[in-house]
Amino acid sequence: MATTKRYDVKDLSLAPEGVRRIMWADRQMPVLTTIRERFEREQPLQGRRISACLHVTTETANLMRTLKAGGADVVLCASNPLSTQDDVAAALVNDFEIPVFAIKGEDNDTYYSHIEAAVDHRPQLTMDDGADVIGVLHSSRREQLGDIIAGMEETTTGVIRLKAMEADGALAFPVIAVNEARTKHLFDNRYGTGQSTIDGIIRATNVLLAGKRFVVAGYGWVGRGVALRARGLGAHVIVTEVDPMRALEALMDGYEVMPMAQAAPIGDIFCTATGDKHVLAREHLSVMKDGAIICNTGHFNVEIDIPALQSLSVDTREARNFVEEFTMSDGRRIFLLADGRLVNISAAEGHPAIVMDMSFANQALATEYAVQNAGSLEARVYPVPTEIDEEIARLKLETMGIDIDSLSEEQAKYLASWDEGT
Ligand SMILES: NC(=O)c1ccc[n+]([C@@H]2O[C@H](COP(=O)([O-])OP(=O)(O)OC[C@H]3O[C@@H](n4cnc5c(N)ncnc54)[C@H](O)[C@@H]3O)[C@@H](O)[C@H]2O)c1
Repeated sequence: MATTKRYDVKDLSLAPEGVRRIMWADRQMPVLTTIRERFEREQPLQGRRISACLHVTTETANLMRTLKAGGADVVLCASNPLSTQDDVAAALVNDFEIPVFAIKGEDNDTYYSHIEAAVDHRPQLTMDDGADVIGVLHSSRREQLGDIIAGMEETTTGVIRLKAMEADGALAFPVIAVNEARTKHLFDNRYGTGQSTIDGIIRATNVLLAGKRFVVAGYGWVGRGVALRARGLGAHVIVTEVDPMRALEALMDGYEVMPMAQAAPIGDIFCTATGDKHVLAREHLSVMKDGAIICNTGHFNVEIDIPALQSLSVDTREARNFVEEFTMSDGRRIFLLADGRLVNISAAEGHPAIVMDMSFANQALATEYAVQNAGSLEARVYPVPTEIDEEIARLKLETMGIDIDSLSEEQAKYLASWDEGT
């Protein structure tokens, strides 16, 4: 069903603050700025309709500006009901003439109606953070599948789903897995999420991390960033894992490793970062200490079994913004942050712009690549081409004023040989 609204944001009068903050972020996104300047000259996306479903933040606003500068006709909706920055949404509509469908705190129905509104744009390219637009196109909007040149996917959870669709033969168009670029997950997932997750926990609770037992579930790129930064603030970090290789890495990185059943009764703060379901389950919630703080920084709000928490509790109240207090029948209290949604984007501002610079440079260049190769890509999940990934790393170093060595002719020859130096 086609929507009638041209946009749906909380309050257009918030736009001036949004513009100020978008410009602040832009100063820390020099790689994206370089791409935007080239896009303006070359118009590689001329006339292409793009529906983007991303966290509506200042950094995303700068990506949207870049796509538009390249000639694209873009609309944006939120990839999470709690992550929208309402001033940014207002500024995009008011000052940058980019339609946005996103309101912070929107209910589930509104959230999905906003995705539908983005799909009403009849995209030729999609840009997802969690595969929601692609999900809608493959279910209720199959008649639009033929319009799509390609999709871009930002996060681990989305890529996992798309690879499952590919394996089932269900994927109808090519998708570029932006998350797989090294200039994305090595920095965004690790350092961006690491810092902003701790920021979200602190903004929500103002707790001191020093001396606390901080339990990180999952030692992937996100988990290792969170563990690193929690340790940096003096927490005693415990890691839980299901993958022996990653558990071993955590152990040798100096963390305590144990099953969640063992960590649950001793942890002070718990943060899930697995992309998996019910990692903090009823049996764990049942044995946590009074005052335990629990939160999630994985993509969906399924990592903590919230229905179990609700059924175990006899009373709930809002203790602070983004902090819900659950009182158990034995008097223990458990504090859930940001409804179990991504704590870094719900209770703080998400990743710093300097990191998103690389993630969104990948988005912009992957989109250009998809247009250049329209028709020759199959309905598969593709990595970002290595040349793009390496070019972004080179540009990033250059904008940071860092020089590196290059191989001498002798070294290049030596490294390519097999008969020298025995
Ligand atoms: N908050 C953010 O801004 C942000 C940013 C990037 C990624 N993400 C999301 O964070 C999640 C993790 O991403 P990643 O890149 O670290 O993924 P990853 O695949 O590198 O790591 C996930 C880890 O969790 C482990 N795991 C799975 N089930 C587990 C369980 N039951 N108990 C303990 N460990 C378990 C896996 O073995 C793996 O090592 C994904 O949902 C991703 O989409 C969030």
